[in-house]
Amino acid sequence: MVRQQSGTDSETLVCELAGQFLKGGRLPSADCRRLTTATPAALYSDADFAALAVERQLEPGTDDGSRRPGARLREVELLPGNDRGRVLDLMCGVGNYLAAIVDAGQRYRSYLGIDVSTAALAVARSRYPAGPIRFVHADVSEDDTALEPCDTVLLTYEALNHVDFDAARRLLRRAAGALAPDGHILADLALADGLPASPFRTAAELPDGYRAGDPGPCVAVVEGVPTRAAPGVSIAYRVHHLAGDRCLFHFGYRQWYPTASTVARMVAAAGLVVSGEHRLHGPAGDEPDAAHRARHFVLAHR
Ligand SMILES: C[S@@+](CC[C@H](N)C(=O)[O-])C[C@H]1O[C@@H](n2cnc3c(N)ncnc32)[C@H](O)[C@@H]1O
Repeated sequence: MVRQQSGTDSETLVCELAGQFLKGGRLPSADCRRLTTATPAALYSDADFAALAVERQLEPGTDDGSRRPGARLREVELLPGNDRGRVLDLMCGVGNYLAAIVDAGQRYRSYLGIDVSTAALAVARSRYPAGPIRFVHADVSEDDTALEPCDTVLLTYEALNHVDFDAARRLLRRAAGALAPDGHILADLALADGLPASPFRTAAELPDGYRAGDPGPCVAVVEGVPTRAAPGVSIAYRVHHLAGDRCLFHFGYRQWYPTASTVARMVAAAGLVVSGEHRLHGPAGDEPDAAHRARHFVLAHR
């Protein structure tokens, strides 16, 4: 929540703004009120948002854009054996999971990362300029995005939550089609359990300099509007980064959360079984509450 503190005028102002938002939904400008929600694919295709997302994915001290390095390591270690073979990383971002595979001392034969953000791909290519490694620009939820034959599919950081039920079901089926008979899929997926049923508002203080060059302090205020999007819950989020007496940056997006039984049906419909279900994020520590909803499923052919 917003830390109340005595201090500079700017700190007082941002606390007031956040308080007004939490109590009455008031936002600093008409522009803030006009903010709409987009699909994650559209949002990450926006240059300004993509630049912010890349900064967050590269920041090891937060799991805002990618899980923290230690968590990524534990995730890839959930997969059986030590050889990932041909890796297909869907919504790969800056390629953090290629680093995790290497850091875990695992082998891989090749790696193909697909992402819709040109900014993330540019960073990924500069981090991994050589080897049997490729990064391709595409929307993985489009049925005509080719998924090459592979031994490991990575759907990390709530990748399937980034698309709606139909797209998630089709994507999982296509991933299963690309997967070798003895291959595995690692899917980090947040479930609908415990999500609020009616609109909610929250606020969280962000570290100073949250975006390069931003003045601190900065508070992110979030409005979530859930709808029952059978079979699960869809939430339209609108996020505003407040500093001083104004909103520095805002964005809106939609995420979909399946129920546990929907996950079971999706997995079965793709011809897969859950060979392991894990919960790496708990209520302890400094992870945001949202992370606690994530499950890590290891999937294999039936
Ligand atoms: C939260 S980040 C996670 C990145 C990476 N998977 C990780 O865990 O470090 C989500 C990524 O998914 C990408 N993305 C979102 N929707 C996508 C889509 N439909 N097709 C391809 N990439 C997408 C974004 O550009 C972004 O890089």
